[in-house]
This record gives sequence, C-alpha cells and structure tokens, in this order.
Amino acid sequence: MGNVLRITGGVPLVGDVEVRGAKNFVSKAMVAALLAEEECRLRNVPEISDVQIVSGLLELHGVRIDSTDHDGELVLDPTNVEQAHVADIDAHAGSSRVPVLLCGPLLHRLGEAFIPDLGGCRIGERPINYHLDVLRQFGAVVEKRPEGMRLTAPEGLRGARIRLPYPSVGSTEQVLLTAVRAHGTTELRNAAIEPEIMDLVAVLQKMGAVISVQTDRVIEIEGVERLGGFDHRAIPDRMEAGSWACAALATGGDIYVLGAQQQPMMTFLNVFRKIGGAFDVDDEGIRFWHPGGELHSIALETDVHPGFMTDWQQPMVVVLTQTTGLSIIHETVYENRFGFTDALNEMGAHIQIYSECLGGSPCRFGRADYRHSAAISGPSPLHAAEITVPDLRGGFSYLIAALAAEGESTVNGTEIIYRGYERFGEKLDALGAAYTTD
Ligand code: EPU
Repeated sequence: MGNVLRITGGVPLVGDVEVRGAKNFVSKAMVAALLAEEECRLRNVPEISDVQIVSGLLELHGVRIDSTDHDGELVLDPTNVEQAHVADIDAHAGSSRVPVLLCGPLLHRLGEAFIPDLGGCRIGERPINYHLDVLRQFGAVVEKRPEGMRLTAPEGLRGARIRLPYPSVGSTEQVLLTAVRAHGTTELRNAAIEPEIMDLVAVLQKMGAVISVQTDRVIEIEGVERLGGFDHRAIPDRMEAGSWACAALATGGDIYVLGAQQQPMMTFLNVFRKIGGAFDVDDEGIRFWHPGGELHSIALETDVHPGFMTDWQQPMVVVLTQTTGLSIIHETVYENRFGFTDALNEMGAHIQIYSECLGGSPCRFGRADYRHSAAISGPSPLHAAEITVPDLRGGFSYLIAALAAEGESTVNGTEIIYRGYERFGEKLDALGAAYTTD
C-alpha cells in the first residue's frame, strides 16, 4: 500500500478486525531475550514496523530471529550475543526509543553498551534522563560521545534503592531489565504499573527472575545469576483496540474487535459509555458501536495506569468533535500532544488548546506554559482536507477524522501508522471504508 490515502468519508465502519500483541509490550519482551541464555519464543507478535526495528537492532547484537507461521511466533536465539558496530547501531538512530532499553541487558552480557540518539514520536521532549540516572544508580558509567552514548560497568551492576520522579513506563522497564541480573536486591518506588509492564514481569519471571510487585507502586527485584528462555503469548494491544472503538463511534459504525480485553481497557470503556457509545464484551473480544442519538461531552485527564492512557487521547479527540457540548481533555503525560488538532480544526472541528491545567488537578506542566489542555466543542460536521500524519496515534486519529468527514480527504505520510497498526489497510477494507491509495 502507498503512503498516501484518499479517503471518502461519511461511511460508517462496520465489520470485524483483530488486534494482536501490544506494540508497547512486544518490543520490550524482545529486548528481555537479550538476557536469556536459551532460546525464547514470543507469540501473538504483530506485523508492525516497530517489531522490525527492534529485530534489526537485536540481530546487530548477534541475536538470531526467526518467525514461524504458528500464532505470530518469533523465535529469538540470544546464545551468541556480541557487540554491534557503532556505525550500524547509529544507522538505527531516529527510528525508535527502544535502544535505550538494551543498556542493562548489554551491560550484563558484554560489559558495555552504546545508544544512538533516540527517535520515537515527536509528542514532547521525551528526554532519557531518568533512564541514565537509573543506570548510574546500578553502577553504570555513561560517557557522552558525538554519535551517542557509551555505557560501561567497570565494577558490575549492583541492586539499588531507586525512586522515580514520575512513574515512567520506559524507566520502570529499564529498572526491571537491569535489576533482574544485578548483584543484590533492587527496590523501585513510584514505578509504572501498566498492563504491558506486568506482562514483561511475567516474561522475566518465566526466565527465572524474582520480582515482587507490591502495593503503592513499589516493585522489589532480587538479582539472579542466570536467566533462561521463555515461551509467552503477548497481551493484546489495548491502544489499537481503543483506536478502532473510536473509529466505530466517530463514523456511526459498529466494529467487533477480536482480541480486545476488558480488564486493561476498563478506564477507556467507562469513558466510551459515558459519552454514549455502546459496547459488549465476550470471551473473544469487544464489540463497539454507535447506538444512535446524540453523544455527550465529557471532561477527562490522561494519566498513568490505571488512568486514561495518553495513547487513547488522540483518537478520542476526534470522537469528542462529534459530541454535544464542551469537552475538556487535560493531558498530563506528555507536554506537547495536541499539535495534531490544528489539522482537525481545518476540517471543521472547534478545538482550543490552553497552557493552563483545565482538569481537576494541577499537573507538572501547568507552570511551564506547555499547551497541554484542550477544549473541544461540538458536534462539528467535519469536511475533507489534505492532511499529513504527524505521529503514530495522531496519524490514526487523522484516518478516523477523514473517515468521518464529508468528501474526499488526502492523508499523507501514512507509513508512520505501520509502526503500531498492523495491516490497517486490510482492516479498513474489511470494515467497508472507501479509500484509494497511491
Ligand atoms: N520522561 C522523562 N525522562 C525520562 C523518561 C520519561 O522526563 O527519562 C517523561 C516523558 O517525557 C513523558 C513521561 O515521562 O512526559 C512519561 O514517559 P514514559 O517514560 O512513561 O514513556 P515511554 O516509555 O517513552 C511508553 C510508550 C508510549 C506511551 C508512554 C506512556 C513505548 C515504546 N512507548 O513511552 O507509547 O505513550 O509509554 O504510556 O512503550 C505510542 O505507543 O504511541 C507511544 C508514544
């Protein structure tokens, strides 16, 4: 499929789609394989470009990766892990944030690691200061070089008492992936507890790690000498499931999302119901539909788990352009995740962005003049436009907007969407979307 989609909107999306393993878990489980001394099997792996990027990085470090036709299975053989060439790693710069998570495992396996400048979606500064602070607390030495950062551990890595300034997903994963083989016990406070992190804990436990998840965001990890392989089926992607749910509601459609699970989506489902969407959960998935009549506005804040995920925010904004009244979203995870709304306004939406905290509680961005709150009034009929995908979730929300809008929209740069949405063209076909591609 080409990278430009011409979408004729106004057609309700109706049909079935399947979601497979969560992008934000699968890439981390693949990194965990670096710690193993035996073959690892990961199932339910989606065909998305983030998986290809991480596969490429691991292969550079000597991991052999094969895929089988059985249940989206990847077989990772880390028995010959080796140092990659700096120039090769550097060629991956700009494509993903995952390389920073290789640091702990590579320090354990090889005594050194190199990280290129990091990519990922441009939705805020996204620094890696917590990651580096954590690694230093384990005993790593970080040396900044023009082409990136080199890390060594002259005295090995030792367990530490760590408190994160914010329950960051990546930094929590950094601690887990480093502490499991560090000498002694690590106590992590203010940890992130997203379901994708809990699935990573499950993988590490299968490998032989000793990790206890305690109350109040405390995780204790006892380092072990050796980790074996694992055989694991990835949890489904709740971000993708939520995105299709939003597509159903915004287009007045009816989508059954095979593979969607209720528990990790409870916060999303509450919001979906409050604004007037209908859903039905069964053992295989969740059906989402527009039951007819008006949709209702809402005030919500994005937050770390169990709050409303920031990755649901962008598709949900498109839905809120179709609800009656004034909706408020206070984005408390990223300081700059509303840039995509300019294009929605060009399509007829009424969205205003504010630097004040419009939610019930002040957040860390309120005093710094970050434009992190949105007021959305609706319902606003959307009309076609030419728009360019800004980032992964913003990109999918542009697809939803174009599918809901009257007329033919041109959406450029859709290749970014493949980072997290498997075969979305085929899924759009199955739902009856009217589009052509260059
Ligand atoms: N932060 C720092 N310093 C750090 C690390 C994070 O200031 O060293 C800040 C970030 O700038 C951000 C906040 O902490 O404001 C939260 O960032 P977090 O570390 O939790 O995010 P991440 O690990 O970089 C993952 C997902 C994101 C998802 C967030 C939050 C992956 C590959 N990415 O990012 O997914 O939004 O957690 O749940 O797992 C996406 O899928 O579209 C996506 C952006």
